[in-house]
Amino acid sequence: MIAEQTLTEQYYRVRLHSEAICRGLETEDYVVQPVADVSPPKWHLGHTTWFWETFVLKPNVPGYRIFHDDFSYVFNSYYETVGKRVLRTDRGNLSRPTVAGVYAYRAYVDEQMSRFLDTAELSPDLHALILLGLNHEQQHQELLITDIKYILGHNPLLPAIEMPFQEHQSQLPSPDAVLAEGIYTIGYHSPDSQTGGSFYFDNEVGSHKVYLNKTTLNGNLVTNEAYLAFVESGGYQNFRHWLSDGWAWVKANDIQAPLYWHRIDGAWWQYTLDGLRPVDLNAPVCHVSHYEADAYARWTGQRLPTELEWEAAAPQLNWGARWEWTNSAYLPYPGFVTAEGAVGEYNGKFMSGQMVLRGASVATPEGHSRATYRNFFQPDKRWQYTGIRVVKN
Ligand code: AVJ
Ligand code: FE
Repeated sequence: MIAEQTLTEQYYRVRLHSEAICRGLETEDYVVQPVADVSPPKWHLGHTTWFWETFVLKPNVPGYRIFHDDFSYVFNSYYETVGKRVLRTDRGNLSRPTVAGVYAYRAYVDEQMSRFLDTAELSPDLHALILLGLNHEQQHQELLITDIKYILGHNPLLPAIEMPFQEHQSQLPSPDAVLAEGIYTIGYHSPDSQTGGSFYFDNEVGSHKVYLNKTTLNGNLVTNEAYLAFVESGGYQNFRHWLSDGWAWVKANDIQAPLYWHRIDGAWWQYTLDGLRPVDLNAPVCHVSHYEADAYARWTGQRLPTELEWEAAAPQLNWGARWEWTNSAYLPYPGFVTAEGAVGEYNGKFMSGQMVLRGASVATPEGHSRATYRNFFQPDKRWQYTGIRVVKN
């Protein structure tokens, strides 16, 4: 978030960016849900709007009229506090409300929000809630991109699409990060009020000390060339490299390479937002699961960093191209407090069975991430822009 902008400016910048991501879509692209994890773009546009309506407008604007009675049922993602919702796997059945109807919803809520931001005296709590709404919509911008990529990347015609960011970025060689043995402070250092500092999520606050042993993190992400060597050496056929759950996942899903890789006439190609391209050997490997990241590291005789090592090393790292899988389970920091009300469901209730990813990716909106940011997904997920950094043994 750009702190010098007024809240109204930040609001419009974020809202317009969600729509800019969708500019290259045809109406049909907005509607499909090829797998449970991938939501229709139309649903993201509606859900982010519902978030503003439900958490900011409805409780704070006297006499606020909601746009449509059905929309809380349609666009509530997982908030038990708010009420009933469409089953996640049924989001692709929502041919109604129409795409035009969702854009009309956005326009209505934007007008209400702009009036509200212009006239209301914002308490520190309300200010923090608006920053949460902005960061929430930014999280969905990355999900929009990865869901659109999945939708088009599973269309047999593999169509290309224009996006307001550069998916292909070259990696400059970077020196390794050497962590000296000692005590490190982990977590977001909370200033007195959220109005003064930058935004942070509840799962990264609660600064605490940890003891780390001497470690060297590779300055570079694992490249496609290095990962290809693992593939070609039969890495996916040898159980020894894999965690038990990972091996079961490889077998059950017949996994042979990263997501979006295609072997055509003996050569490796990858689907990108620009269409099918030969695998770029110098680019950092992308779209791998935690299981694949762990197996690759093991194959090289190395390991993944813990999230604590990653954060302590962050000032020395060149990060931001790929979300980096860590060896850390997504768990609460010491002293984690679940907020009152529906926003208490935002992060904390997912602290079971997921792994932490650190950094950011080419698809992360500018200014959205920071060194203390904790992203998280189940270990088999690989449709985000996920990559690998190893710790040298
Ligand atoms: C942090 C990316 C795992 O995908 O559900 C969106 C982001 N939280 N709406 C997710 C999120 C609420 C979250 N991840
Ligand atoms: Fe959400």
